[in-house]
Amino acid sequence: MPLTRKAYRAAILHSIADPAEVGIEASYEYFEDGLLVVDNGQISALGHASELLASLPADIEITHYQDALITPGFIDTHIHLPQTGMVGAYGEQLLDWLNTYTFPCESQFADQAHAEEVAGIFIKELLRNGTTTALVFGSVHPQSVNAFFEAAQKLDLRMIAGKVMMDRNAPDYLTDTAESSYLESKALIERWHSKGRLHYAVTPRFAPTSTPEQLTLAGQLLGEYPDLYMQTHISENLQEVEWVKELFPERKGYLDVYDHYQLLGERSVFAHGVHLCDDECARLAQTGSAVAFCPTSNLFLGSGLFNLPMAEKHKLNVGLGTDVGGGTSFSLLQTLNEAYKVMQLQGARLSPFKSLYLATLGGARALRLEERIGTLQPGTDADFLVLDYNATPLLSYRLKQSKSIAETLFVLMTLGDDRTVAQTYAAGNLVHQR
Ligand code: GUN
Ligand code: ZN
Repeated sequence: MPLTRKAYRAAILHSIADPAEVGIEASYEYFEDGLLVVDNGQISALGHASELLASLPADIEITHYQDALITPGFIDTHIHLPQTGMVGAYGEQLLDWLNTYTFPCESQFADQAHAEEVAGIFIKELLRNGTTTALVFGSVHPQSVNAFFEAAQKLDLRMIAGKVMMDRNAPDYLTDTAESSYLESKALIERWHSKGRLHYAVTPRFAPTSTPEQLTLAGQLLGEYPDLYMQTHISENLQEVEWVKELFPERKGYLDVYDHYQLLGERSVFAHGVHLCDDECARLAQTGSAVAFCPTSNLFLGSGLFNLPMAEKHKLNVGLGTDVGGGTSFSLLQTLNEAYKVMQLQGARLSPFKSLYLATLGGARALRLEERIGTLQPGTDADFLVLDYNATPLLSYRLKQSKSIAETLFVLMTLGDDRTVAQTYAAGNLVHQR
């Protein structure tokens, strides 16, 4: 196969470590006039244009972006495909919201054509917003996952998804059984897991909608195949936490339910964790599990404020999640805008470099994919974005006043959204152009 080599010249920024561990200055690399070289879908070089250009053949194709910033693609560690059609549903908190809006909307995925239509819209929306990898909940129907992976495979995207398992406390039209959920998940794993850049996640919705038998089989699946993911929800809403105590009185608390069924581990991602206690954070960290911080959802559903400093204290892996449709935006820039406010309301700060980390390398680490995505290090997948400083008149004017990359980055995260993402590249291919 002939080598396809391309180079991209612009300001370039990526996170290389967690600011909580190394301090802000050592957490990133910034090239004011940078060059990113891509060979066959992978990054082969990154550096200052003035230094790298001399080492490249004179006829190499170079795309030069002015007034723009190249960053790694964003990583959304928690989102629901079948809730695309119900973002922004009025008035309820979690449990009523699920019954009133979510379950009826997800039921439409029994129809294959509907699943395919929404999967197409959903993936386009991810890419329009600069999300190149997501950990995705399907519906209870296997066809939701088939439709999603088929669409992702066509674009060679790195994606993780799973069919929801739920066999109680949900309408009959939307429940499986412990056995059928096991068999259907297994068939999806055989078909999709580790195929190219696709990965499967065992997906019990949350403790209240699974019987002990189903949770047992979810744990069993994780033991049957290497590198499977597990995704679920935890401690999002106080009523939910009380309900779990009633349903599992023999367990110490919410996390202990999942722990008992062997669902914790290095590829396990728990969404929300707003009401986790200190001991639970310690246990999550000890098992290498991760939490998806979903600020737009936590505010929209009135769930509460995620305690990021507590997670940091325990060295717990944290990624960022949009949680659409509980969340209100596909944009991780807008998600960071809200994350900043969630921290402000707790008397804490979120530096723009910590934010960049959360949306990129932090997400990659939560998913154990930092060798492949989340940075622009040579040898990793060429999943990257071009953010446009002139995306809107206000952004353009505001950024002209900026005196540093820190200020520019923070303003991009405060004013930016899908309009800011001019180009999205995945495996070196242009997959979205505004
Ligand atoms: N808990 C159980 N299911 C859901 C869901 O679909 N969205 C959110 N935000 N929380 C949940
Ligand atoms: Zn969710």
